[in-house]
Amino acid sequence: MFGNKAVKATLVASFLTFVGLALPLQASAACNLVSTKDGSPLPIKAVDSDTPQAKEFLETCINPYTKMYAADPAAAKAGKKKFGYYSCTQCHGANGGGQVGPSILDDRWQYSKHVTDKGLFETIAGGSNGGMFAWHQQVAGNPELVPTDDILKIIGWLRTEYKGGGDKPWLK
Ligand code: HEC
Repeated sequence: MFGNKAVKATLVASFLTFVGLALPLQASAACNLVSTKDGSPLPIKAVDSDTPQAKEFLETCINPYTKMYAADPAAAKAGKKKFGYYSCTQCHGANGGGQVGPSILDDRWQYSKHVTDKGLFETIAGGSNGGMFAWHQQVAGNPELVPTDDILKIIGWLRTEYKGGGDKPWLK
């Protein structure tokens, strides 16, 4: 029966339909951000005012600024500016090298997931149990706080300042 050409054609057609349905689903798959505090989903959605880079990150978990700034350190200053604007400097020092808060530039990460931009984003956006506030405006419910794009710029800049050894998984 499966030797029958018509059946084969039907099977191929239904397979293609399946792939055709699965691909758009995959393309719209979201980056499932979770809280560093308790692993619950972070309530962050793309909003109209988001940049294309922010929307891309919320879908793919890839921070477009990381590679952009690695190739163009002058552009990374935009991230450093945000780091100062939101007073991250008060705890982490002017250059992220640490003060009352830990250094963000060495290879001693507070949580192992911080070798990924997704992991770093989750701690900055949603806070931690060890002294980081939730900085994302949607998580904190405060429009004065940090939008997705600014967190991504800060991360992109911090990656350019990395002084630890080993490879840089965030550039892969
Ligand atoms: C009130 C002090 C304080 C401020 C202000 C602050 N942080 Fe932190 N930050 C901390 C502490 C404390 C930790 C360690 C948290 C932990 O271990 O759970 C931390 C951890 C981090 C880490 C992880 C560091 C590592 O080595 O793994 C990043 C990244 C970070 N902060 C970014 C930021 C950014 C970006 C801002 C500004 C939007 C900011 N922080 C503002 C205190 C602060």
